[in-house]
Amino acid sequence: MSAAQTPTRTRVLIVDDEENQRNGLAGMIKSWGFVTETAGDGQEALEKLADFPAHVLLTDLMMPRMDGYELLRRLNSLGSRVPAIVITAFGNIETALSTMHDLGAFWFLEKPIQAQALRFLLERAGAQSRLLEEAELLQRQLSYQGVLGELVGKSEPMQQVFSLIRQVAPSKAAVLVTGESGTGKELAARAIHQLSSQREGPFVAINCAALPETLMESELFGHEKGAFTGAVERRAGCFELAQKGTLLLDELAEMPIGTQAKLLRVLEDSRVRRLGGKSEIQVEVRIIASTNRTPEEAIRSAHLREDLFYRLNVFGIQLPPLRHRLEDLPVLCESMIRDLNKKHGSSVEGLDNGLLAKLQTHSWPGNVRELRNVLERAVILAGSGTLGLNHLPQPFSPGLAASPSASVSAGQDGVTIPIGSTVSQAEKTLILMTLAHTKNNKTRAAEILGISLKTLFNKLKEYGGSEPES
Ligand SMILES: Nc1ncnc2c1ncn2[C@@H]1O[C@H](COP(=O)(O)OP(=O)(O)OP(=O)(O)O)[C@@H](O)[C@H]1O
Ligand SMILES: [Mg+2]
Repeated sequence: MSAAQTPTRTRVLIVDDEENQRNGLAGMIKSWGFVTETAGDGQEALEKLADFPAHVLLTDLMMPRMDGYELLRRLNSLGSRVPAIVITAFGNIETALSTMHDLGAFWFLEKPIQAQALRFLLERAGAQSRLLEEAELLQRQLSYQGVLGELVGKSEPMQQVFSLIRQVAPSKAAVLVTGESGTGKELAARAIHQLSSQREGPFVAINCAALPETLMESELFGHEKGAFTGAVERRAGCFELAQKGTLLLDELAEMPIGTQAKLLRVLEDSRVRRLGGKSEIQVEVRIIASTNRTPEEAIRSAHLREDLFYRLNVFGIQLPPLRHRLEDLPVLCESMIRDLNKKHGSSVEGLDNGLLAKLQTHSWPGNVRELRNVLERAVILAGSGTLGLNHLPQPFSPGLAASPSASVSAGQDGVTIPIGSTVSQAEKTLILMTLAHTKNNKTRAAEILGISLKTLFNKLKEYGGSEPES
């Protein structure tokens, strides 16, 4: 897509010490459909660039603190490739030429600035910058097939997920992402957003399990001042906040059923009305919903409205549990260790075969999140070198080890799973042992196992014992 077709998305940073000039330029450039940010000198520009990755820099030369030359010099030495348009005093063509030559400025403009010339240059510089950005993105994706956005996986089931994400992302279709807890549903939603045409727009996630009905609706649709007790100010809802972007309805099946009916109406009409509001607001939002329940089951148990399900399930993506793609463990470990090294300032180089083999015998009820927790603990313990079996909690039993409250179970019995057991046998043993450990407190057991209470009940039903909830 060229910048000429989508001028609204090109970001321009305007650097000038004269406030009037700066704001005047910003106003004009914004009116042409660019996104603008301003800075009063080179120093401020460098700071702004950290949060505002500009496609084009428009800078004056003479400024206090850090002037335009120094700014360009610094950017050069940082390896920045942001094209710069330099504003020079009238008649100062020599300075302009040497700036272009020495500092690689993209172009220069003499004062007083001709609006049309500026617009033309901005569009050209923007187009170049965006092409570079897209080429880099493409290369990153092609060069390493096992990665999509932040999702990692080379296994067949993950490659299928990647392919679905690539196919659905450019469309505006709603997507329903399903999969057990910790399988990467949120990462999948983010990847869809990043690969979509609304990627420059906001990505907003709302957890539908966290709030009671009124609050949920006010979060989703917004409210006017005085709409209910406690509504002291008018507030925009998630739909408005996600305007021209993506809204993730996380744990959709936990949303109150009454709210689901209202949500469906919004999806049908693309309009929302704030609570207590009179007029409707047109919204253009890509919807992604996620749930760790089986949708059919959620419909049967009246947790999910069937009509809403059909509306959202235009495109379904199911993330495989980690135990079905154990061949991804090496790439997952590699990429997570790299991440964790950055996070903790450590220099761990990898893991030895003994540890890898051990990880491959586990059933990972908490999926990739659980793996990350196990690795994080190991990386902190080791600090450098290679991770081995001695960096696992002793005795190592998945679920217990990975639970955020692992310390509570320290010193308790682990589970021994002999080679030759099936995954479901191992899972059953682990679930029953954990229940014994929590003295049959199912809520606590589900927490330790990293699964939902509902899943735990289903498993128990499968094993043939249906006991009262504790
Ligand atoms: N394929 C993957 N590659 C790399 N990291 C992953 C992958 N899947 C999950 N993770 C990591 O695991 C953790 C959980 O991921 P995420 O929050 O996306 O899972 P989820 O399915 O939304 O879980 P829940 O149902 O509990 O909300 C995060 O730290 C995420 O970075
Ligand atoms: Mg999630």
